[in-house]
Amino acid sequence: MTFGTSFRSALKAVAATAPLLALLSTPSFAQTAQPWLNKALSADERASLLEQELTLDERIGLVHGPMALPFFFKDGKLPDGAMAAAGYIPGIPRLGIPAQRESDASLGVTNPMGVRPGDFATALPSSLALAATFNPQIAYDGGAVVGLEARVKGINVQLAGGVNLARDPRNGRNFEYAGEDPLLAGTLVGESIRGIQSQNVVSTIKHYALNGQETGRNVANSVIGEQALRESDLLAFQIAIEKGQPGSVMCAYNLVNGAYACGNDFLLNKVLKGDWGYKGYVMSDWGAVKSTDFAVKGLDQQSGEQLDKEIWFGAPLKAAVENGTVPAARLSDMTHRILRSMFAAGLFDTQAPASYDAARHAGVAKAEADEAIVLLKNDGQILPFARTAKSILIVGGHADAGVISGGGSSQVTAGPDQLVISPGGEGPMAMFNRVNYHPSSPLKALRARLPDTRIAFDTGQYPEEVARKAKAYDLVIVFATQWAGEGEDVPSLALPNGQNALIEAAAAANPKTIVVLETGNAVSMPWLNKVPAVIEAWYPGQQGGEAIADILTGATNPSGHLPVTFPASIDQYPRVDIPGLDLGPTEQFDVVYEEGADVGYRRFAKLGMKPLFPFGHGLSYTQFSYGNLQVSGGSTVSMTFTVTNTGKVKGKDAPQLYLNATPGGQAKRLIGFSKVELAPGESKTISLAADPRLLANFDTASNSWVVAGGTYTVAVAEDAGQAGIAGTATVKAQKLKP
Ligand code: BGC
Repeated sequence: MTFGTSFRSALKAVAATAPLLALLSTPSFAQTAQPWLNKALSADERASLLEQELTLDERIGLVHGPMALPFFFKDGKLPDGAMAAAGYIPGIPRLGIPAQRESDASLGVTNPMGVRPGDFATALPSSLALAATFNPQIAYDGGAVVGLEARVKGINVQLAGGVNLARDPRNGRNFEYAGEDPLLAGTLVGESIRGIQSQNVVSTIKHYALNGQETGRNVANSVIGEQALRESDLLAFQIAIEKGQPGSVMCAYNLVNGAYACGNDFLLNKVLKGDWGYKGYVMSDWGAVKSTDFAVKGLDQQSGEQLDKEIWFGAPLKAAVENGTVPAARLSDMTHRILRSMFAAGLFDTQAPASYDAARHAGVAKAEADEAIVLLKNDGQILPFARTAKSILIVGGHADAGVISGGGSSQVTAGPDQLVISPGGEGPMAMFNRVNYHPSSPLKALRARLPDTRIAFDTGQYPEEVARKAKAYDLVIVFATQWAGEGEDVPSLALPNGQNALIEAAAAANPKTIVVLETGNAVSMPWLNKVPAVIEAWYPGQQGGEAIADILTGATNPSGHLPVTFPASIDQYPRVDIPGLDLGPTEQFDVVYEEGADVGYRRFAKLGMKPLFPFGHGLSYTQFSYGNLQVSGGSTVSMTFTVTNTGKVKGKDAPQLYLNATPGGQAKRLIGFSKVELAPGESKTISLAADPRLLANFDTASNSWVVAGGTYTVAVAEDAGQAGIAGTATVKAQKLKP
């Protein structure tokens, strides 16, 4: 149902008559006076009705806003209606437009620098850990937790959805992203966004695009060919946007092929809004806007405006619209897009619930950590150890206090008892850097599970002391951590603070030394051959200690799989030195992504390199076998196969489907995956059809995905390094829209 303009003007004239107001304030009349409140209309129709009511100043008011932290404001006082969080865009009460209150992010609702005293939130495992679950349902459930908590706290825009591909294992924000593969990352991030928005909160997806390293992130120019970009990072965004329908896309700090990502006509107007038909709005990263012209290039909203040189989308944009440099229609489109996303997420139609069930949310964090932890090595089935060990020495990693988490804007505070350590140092991020340990102690969790086992703890500061003690225990478990955070990359793959020497010393003294890694990235393991077992627990979130203890003792059967390749050395990556590392903060430089679309395991396959652990790797306490593979062709490749648990305990497997060859030759790509739980002896049949874009190459001349006609070889395998069971199918030649 729509309402004509004259009818609406008549109603407004009547409503302006004071004595009639009481009479007219029935809900049905309110609905006709504000026709955009009619839920039967589409989000676009509602946005159009509302948008045309806006004055120029109101339009301008919707397209920019500050970072909402008190110390940015005079007298430390936030604007009325704002809450202390990452960002704020004032509402328009006259028209019932709610303020946009924006908070970070994917791992939980943040409370930057504790600006809202006593306000805690569920801290989920890192997004890289989420990717290791290979489980879209877990991504959705985690998103729903984040969305509900945000809404209850009064936040209606969540700055989540990091989907940049892990192109460099030293990127300080890889823990905020979902790994190196477009299908895996796009699927899980899309589901997480869908979960957030299911709670009537707008979610972003970020950082669009190619924010592939933190070093020089404001000045780095990412250089890559269009075909390669479409087949890699952009494909991850495209899949996630299709699945999650995020209300907003956050453009990145860096430049892409010479133009800032937030003022990049190709990325924003041509690809996102043109080819993909994206209907939501583009918000800038905080301090990523350089001119009003960015509006013409496709940016819809300037965020964290105090961090920019000017509030470009305030008075300068108004003047530009008045003098015609920026068309008025563009400004209308900007506000239309913002309002549309607010309608689509239900911001106008729903009330925030009063509370959430923190215990249930802790359970979601635990379930995610359970499936995220990867058993990398388990010689002689030393794990699980519940039945065998009488005495255990736990070493290092502050395992007595909790589990480490990543730093920067995504840092969640789960409770009052965090162990917080300042790493100190110099540089722009030094004053903000804090290493936070969620109070979920693996030591305490192990003691609770193994009351009859003698368990001691050593901080691990002195390797000689650990070596001396280690001999007297059945088992030694060394907890090794690597902290990473926003704004800087880790300089090397090596574990910091002498932890490699610590592991070597422990392993030399006691061959039953197990290593538990809590890292934000792949790390090197020079001691790998000297220890029988290694688990990668990532940043496992607020239930991480319990999840690690359950894996070690066998209460949980590990089912995580690597969402990134663990290289044997940094020489296996195209950029041995991190570009821009020694340049001044304002000096622009190029990061040439010469690997193109061959990110991670694809490049390993192409060059025949053997990593330390391949993408997709992950052991279990049981065994799985694959069989009965049937492959059929046509417009894409479809596969049916059975997975059987051939071992003695229940477990979950993540069978992976890889493309091994196209008619054009070798091409390693993940084209499907599944997560399945099986009792001992049980089999399940799985059928999957590949998204044809994963078989295709992007043809820039025809602006389309081109699937070559001919024979495709595919395989079901345990990881990207295994041949698996292969089959072939004939796929017909076709062109698909971009
Ligand atoms: C980060 C974004 C974040 C924003 C607001 C920026 O520094 O890059 O990911 O959403 O801050 O906190």
